[in-house]
Amino acid sequence: MIEALEKLHEEAARRLERCASEPELEQIRIDYLGRKGGKLTALMRGLRELPADERPRAGQELNRRRAELEDLLDARLKGLRENAATLADGGPRLDVTLPGNRPERGRVHPLTRVTDEIIDVFTGMGFEIARGPDVEDDYHNFEALNIPRDHPARDMQDTFFVSEDHVLRTHTSPVQIRVMEQRRPPLQIIAPGAVYRHDDDATHSPVFHQVEGFMVDHGITFGDLKGVLTHFLEQIFQDEVRVRFRPSFFPFTEPSAEVDIGCILCRADEDSGGCRVCRGSGWLEILGSGMIDPNVFDFVGYDTETFSGFAFGMGVERIAMLKYGMDDIRMFFQNDVRFLRQFPP
Ligand code: DAH
Repeated sequence: MIEALEKLHEEAARRLERCASEPELEQIRIDYLGRKGGKLTALMRGLRELPADERPRAGQELNRRRAELEDLLDARLKGLRENAATLADGGPRLDVTLPGNRPERGRVHPLTRVTDEIIDVFTGMGFEIARGPDVEDDYHNFEALNIPRDHPARDMQDTFFVSEDHVLRTHTSPVQIRVMEQRRPPLQIIAPGAVYRHDDDATHSPVFHQVEGFMVDHGITFGDLKGVLTHFLEQIFQDEVRVRFRPSFFPFTEPSAEVDIGCILCRADEDSGGCRVCRGSGWLEILGSGMIDPNVFDFVGYDTETFSGFAFGMGVERIAMLKYGMDDIRMFFQNDVRFLRQFPP
């Protein structure tokens, strides 16, 4: 008897939990407590058949369960009515004193940020922005930059070929050619964008970004190159960065110079040993530059007696890594929010 009662109660409680309307609730009341067919009522009637010594305890238990079930039914009814009222009222009440959910603010990707900083410094000196295609033809990526087919200079860059005659541009220098084909000097241009090389390790990524720049006019000299690039580096790396121009070679410039800055991490010089980042030299290579080779002017039809100019190219990732003290280029491209969140919005 007690067991049967236990089971009935559990069953009723389960039905009540699932019950979603008043008529349904009423049906549950009838099924268990109804005068005629109620299951609990039937158990009450059965009391008489029990041996006299069991009757009082069973009776007590039955009454207790009955009262409990009635309470449950009432509570559920109240809940249902309250729900209906809130819904009729246009949904749950708004508590304006609760703390709000702050939407997380997005951030500018560190590469975009550094690119924008570079652009700002050059536009401040009167440079305009130009762009070229990522899929470039052999002529613009190599030929017109004085890198003929089968010339060993092509080995300087591991090229991704799209077809026999098209490549993913290996540098932004072809934008020089595209602009000069379309326009006449005076020109002061920078060309930011993605470039591609078959290279992949902690300091090389198959896609990375460069900012190219060049200036062409009457009487542009190596002095202009030095002045513009020194000013740029002082702005980008702040305070008194040391700048050094070192002879180098690029097919599209003559003479060519690589530009180094004094190591911004150890601030050491050659004699005091340097650090891991500058590999003990005290200097960091930052960009390539030079006076535009007359052969390049020939390709775009500029008179080399009338015009001269300088050009330069730099890697955005390299500058960003130095500025932010990073040692793995791949972090820029993994989009790990824990990395990206370290940069202020
Ligand atoms: N295009 C060169 C590279 O990707 C960088 C460069 C060097 C660009 C010298 C220039 C320059 O315009 O004058 O390595």
